[in-house]
Amino acid sequence: MLEIVQGDNLSFLQGCAAGAFDLIYVDPPFNTGSERSHTPIRAVRDEQGGDRTGFGGRRYRTQGGQRRSYDDAFDDYLAFLEPRLVESRRVLASGGSLFVHLDSREVHYAKVMLDTIFGRASFMNEIIWAYDYGGRSKRRWPAKHDSILWYARDPERYTFNYDAIDRVPYMAPGLVGAEKAARGKTPTDVWWHTIVPTNSRERTGYPTQKPVGLLERIVRVHSNPGDRLLDFFAGSGSFGEAAERHGRYCTLVDVNPAAIEIMQERFTGASFRGADGAPVIRVKEQIHETA
Ligand SMILES: C[S@@+](CC[C@H](N)C(=O)[O-])C[C@H]1O[C@@H](n2cnc3c(N)ncnc32)[C@H](O)[C@@H]1O
Repeated sequence: MLEIVQGDNLSFLQGCAAGAFDLIYVDPPFNTGSERSHTPIRAVRDEQGGDRTGFGGRRYRTQGGQRRSYDDAFDDYLAFLEPRLVESRRVLASGGSLFVHLDSREVHYAKVMLDTIFGRASFMNEIIWAYDYGGRSKRRWPAKHDSILWYARDPERYTFNYDAIDRVPYMAPGLVGAEKAARGKTPTDVWWHTIVPTNSRERTGYPTQKPVGLLERIVRVHSNPGDRLLDFFAGSGSFGEAAERHGRYCTLVDVNPAAIEIMQERFTGASFRGADGAPVIRVKEQIHETA
């Protein structure tokens, strides 16, 4: 079951009971200093007036979809993040974990702040999400990774389902036996995963959408079926989709009406119906208690 909440996440968090959630994943704005936007484009066959030539000389006309955006410029980014991360710790259950997804612009500052909020012993991993897509700078190394910081509420007792970890191919399968090579190995803290492909069915048209496959690993390993999950910078709701695929409850909060609209579209399809055929989502304006 997914619950979508429209409103500012700080007041949402302040209205939640202590220990309400077993797993929190957040992907806040990265403080890029500008608006993040995305306008999906679609190529429609048009032999007469097309502006592009495709396979076999066929002509296509480019059609623009609806532009979606959110602000990503902060005078004091850490002052924005801090009260939300303090609340995150309060609303985590005793065996729960927080995952904070950032890039190299702010991750080091956020790490120092999270060490202060959770205690350094609660820092478990910095996961590097490595991808390889898009432009390549000729003036410096192309930046093709994000960082995901993992903090456990209690570093002595937290959910880590080792058996639920998916396996990845060996880099040099010839150096291990055939059986091992076929089974693959468990990943390290560097996770290679493609971005959401531009023309894939997964693509919602929301800027900075994260791939569900990446988030499914977090859901499977760091929570159990029936657990209560939260993403309070939800965007297009990718974390909610990962949670729903694995039978977890998930609350998705976003302040941007465009994000709420995208999530409503995303989760009303046939694949998001319960056993009784009823939709798996309900949408709320800002609420002050968790259901
Ligand atoms: C990087 S995007 C999240 C993308 C998301 N992980 C996805 O896969 O689509 C950050 C989101 O945080 C939302 N946001 C920013 N400030 C917020 C606030 N104070 N309360 C709730 N949401 C906020 C923005 O509207 C934006 O949708």
